[in-house]
Amino acid sequence: KNPRKTIAAGNWKMNKTPKEAVEFVNELKASVADASNEVVVGVPFVCIPGVVEAVKGTNIKVAAQNMHWEEKGAFTGEVSGPMLADLGVDYVIIGHSERREYFGETNEMINKKAHAIFKYGMTPIICCGETLTQREQGVTADHVRYQIKVALLGLTPEQVKKTVIAYEPIWAIGTGKTATNEQANEVCTVIRELVCELYGEEVTEQVRIQYGGSVNAKNAAELFAMSDIDGGLVGGASLKVDEFTVIANA
Ligand code: G3P
Repeated sequence: KNPRKTIAAGNWKMNKTPKEAVEFVNELKASVADASNEVVVGVPFVCIPGVVEAVKGTNIKVAAQNMHWEEKGAFTGEVSGPMLADLGVDYVIIGHSERREYFGETNEMINKKAHAIFKYGMTPIICCGETLTQREQGVTADHVRYQIKVALLGLTPEQVKKTVIAYEPIWAIGTGKTATNEQANEVCTVIRELVCELYGEEVTEQVRIQYGGSVNAKNAAELFAMSDIDGGLVGGASLKVDEFTVIANA
């Protein structure tokens, strides 16, 4: 349908110990070895070293779930770009609605993080999405456009080409209420049109936009087949080898 490689990324959130993580990816790597989609596991910080080691030489890439934008310094409890890059992390998920809600992450912080992620040679997965109230108010497109416009400020066209954007309607996260294929695609189209306004067609052709929110083995193929959806950011269903394997091939 287009030149973009579909990307199936798991967001494990705060699940699995380092030992469980390594056991999981050891099982996963055999089962997704021939996957048609790019496969990414977004794991807790403490699981990164073991998981990076376990997936060496495989088609599985590793994502962190957050990062501070400063290189180093007095930021107790934070993890920086050089630390993640040194471990061999490929992607960093930023702007997840849980981080926005519980940890006060703002669009401006997400923008700083995006710059820092590129600075240290990694790629951001930038999340956006509306609440149920915003959807009912009819402001979904405005809200998501604003989130992404600020998140991308000052990035170069080359950087935006590599960027992954994840559209995750908050009402669909962990609720079992998936957006319909049309609802999901509609907002992904809005995002792609925004990227086109800001960066032109060549960039727009390449930027990948995922859908996230109750993606599972049953609905992934239909969602990923939509014109503007290039894969999924998957929570609950990424914690099971069988289910995530189906999604990795959807
Ligand atoms: O980042 C993925 C996520 O928020 C979706 O979670 O459990 O609804 O797939 P889930």
